[in-house]
Amino acid sequence: MAIMVTGGAGYIGSHMVLALADRGEKVVVIDNLSTGFPWALPPNVALRGGDVGDAGFVQSVIEEFDVTEIAHFAAKIVVPESVVNPMLYYGNNTAKSRILFETAVRCGVKRVIFSSTAAVYGDVSGAPVSEDLAPNPVSPYGRSKLMTEWMLEDVSRAHDLKFIALRYFNVAGADPQGRSGQSTPNATHLIKVAVQTALGQRSHLDIFGTDYPTRDGSCIRDYIHVTDLASAHVDALAYLRRGGDSMIMNCGYGQGFSVLEVVDVVRKVTGVNFKANLVPRRPGDPASIVAKSDKIRAVLGWKPEHDNLEEIVKAAHGWERHLATRNS
Ligand code: UD1
Repeated sequence: MAIMVTGGAGYIGSHMVLALADRGEKVVVIDNLSTGFPWALPPNVALRGGDVGDAGFVQSVIEEFDVTEIAHFAAKIVVPESVVNPMLYYGNNTAKSRILFETAVRCGVKRVIFSSTAAVYGDVSGAPVSEDLAPNPVSPYGRSKLMTEWMLEDVSRAHDLKFIALRYFNVAGADPQGRSGQSTPNATHLIKVAVQTALGQRSHLDIFGTDYPTRDGSCIRDYIHVTDLASAHVDALAYLRRGGDSMIMNCGYGQGFSVLEVVDVVRKVTGVNFKANLVPRRPGDPASIVAKSDKIRAVLGWKPEHDNLEEIVKAAHGWERHLATRNS
């Protein structure tokens, strides 16, 4: 019996693989290596190169490793890219997930943990959002993930398969042991871009929009450490193994920081007063999105251990310095 991690060589997927491997679980990764790196995986974890949208390939790996559980991370994740190229997102995130789930059901897979996103909520400025709020995504990315949640709900009603969909808020940071981190070239994540700017790898940071209806006019997000996110997946798997019901849950800390506040923290942690330009809004960005996280804490017993923006930024900064020496 093994757990298949799709997109396991990517940023968040590799942290899940580390969390599972650290706990002695048997893991197989499938990854098309479009944005992932084999070196992000521990040496004792099997990697099969291929695509989640290739049913024959997925079936062969499920059979080879006797897979009964899947953690599905493989996806496109850049909100503005989805606005420009929506079909890429519906194809990659929605249509390929349909093939993956169809194959999973046919092969008798019992449990799925799915990487969903806070982007399903859309523009929800104000109080932290709970899972009861009707989703209203404003980007093709958010819609592509919401459709995948819907598929899982229907599949779990019709077949012997249970799922947890975790709606991630803004994931950042790196493995505290320095084994993995956000390594995508040309990444667009705020914290990564900011630490790269502090390290002199970029000339400046653009702050997209300072006319939002927020406390300082810039967008507010709930930044969560990638290691706490990985532990939420491990807790979700344990919950389903105990016989828990299928469920959708937010995964964030419940505290929002504005873009300007993040920039201040990155300047403080790095000691570099890097250049930040105020520029117009970026398409597809909701003004503010912060998690209500009572459900995941109560149902899964999730206990985050890195709920601290400075710690997150320090980890991201350390990883970026490591990458710079690795690539030089
Ligand atoms: C991120 C995730 C998305 C997730 C969502 C949940 C990525 C690539 N995307 O999207 O998968 O569903 O969180 O909330 O991680 N910003 C700047 N300058 C920059 C970069 C960003 O001002 O150079 C601003 C953005 O306009 C936004 C905020 O920082 O207001 C965060 O942006 P980003 O890190 O790209 O994440 P999201 O778009 O929120």
